[in-house]
Amino acid sequence: MQKIENISLGKNKSNSKTALSYLKRKKKSLPTKYLYDEKGSNLFEKICNTEEYYLTRTEQKILNKYSAEIISYTKVKEFLELGSGSSKKTKILLMNALEQNAFMNYSSLDISEKALKMSFNELESISKKLKINLYKGDFLHDLNNLPSSKNNRLFLFLGSTLGNFDDDTAIKLLKEVEKKMNKNDFFLLGVDKIKDEKVITSAYNDKQGYTKQFNLNILNVINKKYNLNFNQENFNHHALYNQTKSQVEMYLESIRKQNVMLPDDNILSLAEGEKILTEISRKFSDETLSMLLKKSSLRKIKSYSDNKKYFTLYLLKSTKYF
Ligand code: SAH
Ligand code: TRP
Repeated sequence: MQKIENISLGKNKSNSKTALSYLKRKKKSLPTKYLYDEKGSNLFEKICNTEEYYLTRTEQKILNKYSAEIISYTKVKEFLELGSGSSKKTKILLMNALEQNAFMNYSSLDISEKALKMSFNELESISKKLKINLYKGDFLHDLNNLPSSKNNRLFLFLGSTLGNFDDDTAIKLLKEVEKKMNKNDFFLLGVDKIKDEKVITSAYNDKQGYTKQFNLNILNVINKKYNLNFNQENFNHHALYNQTKSQVEMYLESIRKQNVMLPDDNILSLAEGEKILTEISRKFSDETLSMLLKKSSLRKIKSYSDNKKYFTLYLLKSTKYF
C-alpha cells in the first residue's frame, strides 16, 4: 500500500470547542466533513450506486464521452484532485491521459483515509506509467501544504462537492485553487444542476436507506471524536429540497425531547422535532455558477453536459493569464 502523507499541520485542526459550537447555536448544525469516516466513505460508495442517485452515473457518462477531448485539449501531465473519494470516475480521465502521455502524476487530497485507500486500489494497477500520491488533509485549510509542480496540471473537483458549501466558503475554496494555478493549468469542476424537484429529492432519500445510514453515522463519528453519547435511535433522517435556495438540506430530526451531555459539562437540549443540519447540496444554474467563478477569478473555457442537462463539468482557467 502506498504511503499516505498527512498534510494537516494542526493549526487549523478543529477542536471540540469549534465543532460543538455549531450545536449550541439556535439553528443547530454539524460540519459536513464528519460524515466521512471509514463507515461514511463506504456508505457514500453505496449511495453512488443507487438507482435514485443520478449524479454519479451522469457525471460518469459525461466523462466517458468527453475525457479524450479534455485530455488532448488541456495537454496536462498531472492531476490534483480534491475530495477524490474512490477515484472511480477520475480513472476514466486517467486512462485517456495515459494513452496520450508517456507518464502521469496523480495526487489525491481527501480527509478520509478510507477514501484514499479506495482511490489507490482503484488506480494502482492501471499502468506502470502512473505515479500516485495520497494526501490526507482538509481542502478548506490545507491546500497550501501541498507540493507545487512544474508540470501542466489539471485540478479536479468532481461529484458536486462544491455544492456542499455556502457562497462564502465556496468562493474561498475556489480562490485558493485559482491561486495555485499556473499559466497552462486547467480546473475541471463538476456540479449538479437545477432540475425537477422529485428527481432531486429522491436522490437523497434512497429506498435502500443508505443515505439515512450515512446521515446517522455522523453521530457515531462525533461520539467517538468528542466522547459524547448521541443515540442514533433518537433521530430521523430528513432530506428536503429548499426551492428558494435551490438546495437540498439534510437534517437529523430529534424523535423525542432529549438531553445530550457535552464535554464542557453543558447540556444540549433537543426538543421533539428539532433538527440538526448535517449537509446542504446546492443545485446550480449557469448563472449562479458563473457568479461564483467570477468572484473567484476563474474563467469558463468549455462546459460539458448530458442530454438532460442534469449535471455539468466546467473546464476553467485562471483569469490572471488573460
Ligand atoms: N469526488 C468523489 C467523492 C465525492 S464525496 C465523487 O465524485 O464521487 C466527497 C469527498 O470529499 C469524500 O471522499 C470526502 O471524504 C471528501 N471530503 C469531504 N470534506 C472534505 C474536506 N473538508 N477536505 C478534504 N476532503 C473532504
Ligand atoms: N456532493 C454530494 C452531493 O451533494 C455529497 C452527497 C451525496 C451527500 N449524497 C449525500 C451528502 C447524502 C449528504 C447526504 O450530492
